[in-house]
Amino acid sequence: MATVKFPELAPPPMEDAEQLRKAFEGWGANEKLIINILGHRNAEQRKAIRRAYYEAYKEDLIKALQKELSSDFERAVFLWTLDPSERDAVLAYKAALKWKPGNHVLIEIACTRSPHELFLARQSYHVFYRRSLEEDVAAHTAGDYRKLLLLLIASHRYDGPEVNMTLAKAEAKILHLKIADKDYSHDEFIRILTTRSKAQLNATFNQYNNEFGHAINKDLESDTRDDYLAALRAVIKCMTRPEKYFEKVLRLAINKLGTDEEALIRVITTRAEVDLKAIKEEYYGRNSIPLEVAIAKDTSGDYEKFLLALLGHESD
Ligand SMILES: *[C@@H]1O[C@H](CO)[C@@H](O)[C@H](O)[C@H]1NC(C)=O
Ligand SMILES: *[C@@H]1O[C@H](CO)[C@@H](O)[C@H](O)[C@H]1NC(C)=O
Repeated sequence: MATVKFPELAPPPMEDAEQLRKAFEGWGANEKLIINILGHRNAEQRKAIRRAYYEAYKEDLIKALQKELSSDFERAVFLWTLDPSERDAVLAYKAALKWKPGNHVLIEIACTRSPHELFLARQSYHVFYRRSLEEDVAAHTAGDYRKLLLLLIASHRYDGPEVNMTLAKAEAKILHLKIADKDYSHDEFIRILTTRSKAQLNATFNQYNNEFGHAINKDLESDTRDDYLAALRAVIKCMTRPEKYFEKVLRLAINKLGTDEEALIRVITTRAEVDLKAIKEEYYGRNSIPLEVAIAKDTSGDYEKFLLALLGHESD
């Protein structure tokens, strides 16, 4: 359900690297060429180009891009060109260091990636920052949030499809009981959300809905001003309906006066190779305007062209 289009048989990585080098030469960079190459290569192909570039010029392609490009276009090309686990590390670092209640980027990374991808992101974090994501999250969060976030980012859930219905029934009851008591950070409540597999949780939430007559997220809306409850809803949405979660992030980013570029770039670069197609469908269903049209209205120049390429729409 990716949107980005790439040739099945891409040119040899060295050829792409040479083209990119050429694009950086002369007065100003040749942005069109950069978009034509990097906007049409998958993660594996980009990695090979980066390696070839380093071998030929003894310079990291990422550094060269940062030197040549600027502002939103630079940020988008930079994040896109990184390996997905490095990209997650960069995003998590920023999210941890400027964390405040209501910022759900750490939850998004912990709950929409596969357990293995999350593991790789934590490893890249060690390499980049010489410390752990857990340390940084612990240092910048407090209280109920700290307990929830630390367990979420450190979790290594089982990733298989098996579901135990007896367990789903028992744990739906526990969740319901804790919600009725407004005991939202109870150990058992947090344990279930942070350790069970996504398939198991989906069954538990379906069971909750069937037995108690409301979706669990409706019952977590008792106080819509409560940031911690919003965080719990984000956890549940990210794990069961990520396309819905991302549709909302995009909608808020685009509708905001003066577009939230950071959120827009984050969602497009992290989902273009995953589920951006489903997110686009969700967006159209909700807003009656195609996502690429909404983005084209709010952005311009090479930045717009690059985002549209990742969305699978050529602007030329
Ligand atoms: C399902 O969960 C119940 C309750 O935890 C447990 O007793 C049972 O052994 C589990 N069944 C399987 C097949 O794992
Ligand atoms: C969750 O359960 C519903 C109902 O059984 C199913 O249609 C849906 O595909 C499941 N979603 C995931 C992510 O497992």
